[in-house]
Amino acid sequence: MDYFSKVENFLPLQTVERLRSVLSGWIKTKKPNPKVLPNMMYGFDFKTLQGQLDSKIEELIGPHQISDCFLQRCVLPLPIHSDWGDNYQPTGKTPGYAVLFPLDGVGTTHTIVFKETLKRNQLNGTEPITGFEFSDEYKKILSHNKKEDLDRVSNPKKIKWQLGDAIVWDRKHIHCSDNFKDNGTEFKDSFVVFTTK
Ligand SMILES: [Fe+2]
Repeated sequence: MDYFSKVENFLPLQTVERLRSVLSGWIKTKKPNPKVLPNMMYGFDFKTLQGQLDSKIEELIGPHQISDCFLQRCVLPLPIHSDWGDNYQPTGKTPGYAVLFPLDGVGTTHTIVFKETLKRNQLNGTEPITGFEFSDEYKKILSHNKKEDLDRVSNPKKIKWQLGDAIVWDRKHIHCSDNFKDNGTEFKDSFVVFTTK
């Protein structure tokens, strides 16, 4: 697989709807993971969907283990990072893929994946400057990022969020949200599965 892929109509819309209502129920009643506030993240027991999803995910990425699984509502666009670190559930294993299922905020919002990789969560200014010239379109959707971070990535690929799709990227690839606040979108809801090798 390239550093990301998108599979259309992967998840039945019925399942999307079910996950969406679980998330909106939890937002009203349950305390989110305090580490990522004001974004709201809730651990989700993958076993609930294992029968339905495990073999389909295997078709996408090959043999895998699920190391973390969560529902989230982002009210602030996530800046440039990688999903290498198991911040939320340490496993000591090598990170594999992130599989994201958009639940809301679809049609106009995106995830953006870059060519560069990083075996920790955040850039720290020691990585090489790429000299990449971003187009005006990308400058706009990446405008929530620090210049020193943008200087260290290149070749952005934007993946549009659509209900039912699965978006997959290698957890070592640097990625971020688009600046969805810019086009009036208030939040992005998603269901995310992290795998290890
Ligand atoms: Fe991420």
